[in-house]
Amino acid sequence: MKFYFAPMEGLTDYIFRNTHHRFFPGLDRYYTPFLSPTADGRFDRKAFRDVLPENNAGVPLVPQLLTRHSQDFLWAAKLLAENGYSQVDLNLGCPSGTVVAKGKGAGQLRDLAALDRFLDEIFSQSPLPISIKTRLGVQDDGEFPALLEVFCRYPVAEFTVHTRVREDFYRRPARPERFRLALERCPFPLCYNGDILNLADFRCFQAQFPAFCGVNVEETPGQAAHAEGLAGGGAVMLGRGLVADPALFLRCKNGTSADKNVLKAYHDTLFENYCSAFGNARNAMSRMKEFWFYHSALFVGGEKLFKQLRKSTDVGIFRTIVSRIYNELDLREDGTKPAW
Ligand SMILES: Cc1cc2nc3c(=O)[nH]c(=O)nc-3n(C[C@H](O)[C@H](O)[C@H](O)COP(=O)(O)O)c2cc1C
Repeated sequence: MKFYFAPMEGLTDYIFRNTHHRFFPGLDRYYTPFLSPTADGRFDRKAFRDVLPENNAGVPLVPQLLTRHSQDFLWAAKLLAENGYSQVDLNLGCPSGTVVAKGKGAGQLRDLAALDRFLDEIFSQSPLPISIKTRLGVQDDGEFPALLEVFCRYPVAEFTVHTRVREDFYRRPARPERFRLALERCPFPLCYNGDILNLADFRCFQAQFPAFCGVNVEETPGQAAHAEGLAGGGAVMLGRGLVADPALFLRCKNGTSADKNVLKAYHDTLFENYCSAFGNARNAMSRMKEFWFYHSALFVGGEKLFKQLRKSTDVGIFRTIVSRIYNELDLREDGTKPAW
């Protein structure tokens, strides 16, 4: 079973990925948050920093693109190939109102004929193998079979299914049972994504899809057939749960949980790396608050401290509260208990 870090805009940038990889090595792959290629054939300079090879040395990385224009996808894929990448990912899941209104992300799932044309153009000309990350549909998951029919016409390098529809945003629960259809129909490698937030969630997923996860293969011949076609078994992509608990993939793999001292060192290094990159500790603190939005779910109690943390505007006070959190609060033994 392979484990990937999901792309998360505003969180999993190169500074975050490098720091995570240094403290918690062993993930099979990281995905960049989406990059938007512009119509004038270039990336925004700041955005491109995220994929510069020198900023990602040693990190197994797949860049992700968000566009509905095949020519823009193609020049961007060529540039990524020139920069040493061996795969490019297409975002067909972003639910944001502005993105969908422009027919991008999950908005591309609305018009199957246009999607088919777009896929035909990029798959026939891309210099790199293309993986796809999609939702089940726009309004309801009854759209998924027709979407799969389109995707199955192309040599998708890897197909990640975030088992929500666009209208679910991130609020409504994922629908892992819909992953079964992809297992039955797709001839290419698959990756599951959605709501694996702690070990119990992973165990549940394993119980639901044992062969995909590489367990009890003989008990489920249908799934076994698919699993056998995948080198090394299936893959899961972890997002919010892995931000919250940076060792979540290790818990899932072999039951190892992160030590509090390691978590504190990880946190402090991340903060320092943001301070250096931003040249401004207050901006770095704001970014760390995004991290804490998820990470706080790994601790028992501490509501008062977390409220103080959210409200702090002074970097010194922020650091003091962070130290108190790691010193005074216990980690949840069973992992993240999310309130998001
Ligand atoms: C803040 C945030 C930013 C995200 N940014 C991206 C993105 O850039 N590209 C993408 O494909 N998905 C993005 N996602 C979706 C995640 O990759 C993932 O599909 C989703 O969080 C479900 O997985 P999880 O339940 O493990 O968190 C984002 C999600 C969140 C919460």
